[in-house]
Amino acid sequence: MTSPVTVTKLLSMKQKGEKIVALTAYDFPFARILDGCGVHVILVGDSLGNVVQGKANTLPVTMDEMIYHTQMVARATENALVVGDMPFMSYQTSIKHAIKNAGRFLKEAGAAAIKLEGGATVSETIRAISATGIPVQAHIGLTPQSIHQMGGHKVQRDEDRLMQDALKVQEAGAFSVVLEGIPADIAGKITKALTIPTIGIGAGPDCDGQILVLHDMLGLTDRHLPRFVKQYARLMDNAKAAVTLYQDEVQTGRFPAKEHCY
Ligand code: KIV
Repeated sequence: MTSPVTVTKLLSMKQKGEKIVALTAYDFPFARILDGCGVHVILVGDSLGNVVQGKANTLPVTMDEMIYHTQMVARATENALVVGDMPFMSYQTSIKHAIKNAGRFLKEAGAAAIKLEGGATVSETIRAISATGIPVQAHIGLTPQSIHQMGGHKVQRDEDRLMQDALKVQEAGAFSVVLEGIPADIAGKITKALTIPTIGIGAGPDCDGQILVLHDMLGLTDRHLPRFVKQYARLMDNAKAAVTLYQDEVQTGRFPAKEHCY
């Protein structure tokens, strides 16, 4: 029997050099699949906006939407660590507001941790949320909530700044940090410098773990995919083939057959 993944287990996995497997999920059936496969961390990402809600970016995603989706994921999960992603403007306006919203993920949605974007500039928010007993995962490098400030989804290459951000969020109490859109050599140096686990997305193979957006890696999307995504399936093509076959069988009278009738 596998035991539930905790933040301390993730830390010991880093210490032992065991890779951490993380994916996003937004609903019950997919969370059930990931949990059943033994994925260590399920992030209910605000990428919800892109891959489920069909929006152009993550900025419009609300706290209530994140709570709703995190509830579904947490209900399906027995072992994975469920992390709720703090949406844009749920933690930037004040520390009090940030703590209240972080608390909702644990109290109302059943998550065991939260994630928020930013490095040194959000370190006091990370410190305050962690002090309440809520584990915080930081997210540095390419941070999609700052898309307008970054001028698009651009690889972040300022090594000094990235290293400072990583050290600062660790010092503030983050239990882990997502490294997104960072050259592999810089991500490797950050991973070596930190005692907390790094989870990479577009950050090369030397991170302590990897995460991808589920719908991207399963091919359940027709949106443009960044270079760092590997597609392990083509579920959109499979679904289209199934729907086309159903359509054909209904129209030609082959469905329902005898065995589907009472
Ligand atoms: O929202 C999200 O899915 C994320 C991951 C890509 C790390 O932040």
